[in-house]
Amino acid sequence: MSETFSLAPLSVALPKGRLLHPCLELFQGLGCVGLMGILSSRRLVWEELEQGLSFMVIRPTDVPIYVEHGAADLGIVGRDVLREEQRDVYEPMSLGFGQCRLIVAGPPDIRDENLHLRHRLRVATKYPRLTRQHFLKQGISAEVVSLSGSVELAPQVGLADLVVDMVDTGRTLRENNLVEIDEIMSSEACLIVNRASHKLRLKEINHLMKRIADVIEKFKVQGSRFKVQSLGEGS
Ligand code: PRP
Repeated sequence: MSETFSLAPLSVALPKGRLLHPCLELFQGLGCVGLMGILSSRRLVWEELEQGLSFMVIRPTDVPIYVEHGAADLGIVGRDVLREEQRDVYEPMSLGFGQCRLIVAGPPDIRDENLHLRHRLRVATKYPRLTRQHFLKQGISAEVVSLSGSVELAPQVGLADLVVDMVDTGRTLRENNLVEIDEIMSSEACLIVNRASHKLRLKEINHLMKRIADVIEKFKVQGSRFKVQSLGEGS
């Protein structure tokens, strides 16, 4: 580290799955040279003491929880997860990778229906809070079926009429004969910070954010894209 701050490293929670690889590339760009080792390791904590950082790799939905409780000083997570989880964290920075969209999808013929007239509409999703909010805003009465994955299966087996899920390439929708009906939000990777850490270690965190911004800018100038693992390959 070029400047010496506190002795304890800043801890960073990284999400397993599709955002992990670009996160590792980002911190590798910051000088965390051994970090790619995470990909072939089962260790859950990884230290890069030279850079004053330590890392933990956890499920994406757990990242805001670790950061809110101060178990990690910082975290990286998709804005979709952040809005769904509604945790009290500081959100200072979007990172410019991991773009995708949260959408409503269903079988092609449902597009011609007036959903307001439906007596019973069931929607399968990993995002129950955002889904309820969306349908409430539309004035459509919907029953939310909360699942933890493979939600595109639900309409095919009669578990739901619609799904609310992330779309990246659109391949999962196509291969399961679903079409996009509405967009709820767009998402990308965001840096989040524990509120107490932000106060107590402001200088170090600002310094880290500046280094992150520089690496992102450098990657942009080089025209290199972060290798975001396809959603279909993720956790
Ligand atoms: C995600 C998402 C979609 C799919 C979209 O699922 O929930 O199912 O990827 O990607 P695409 O538009 O590129 O096809 P994920 O792979 O995280 O698995 P899951 O369904 O088990 O959550």
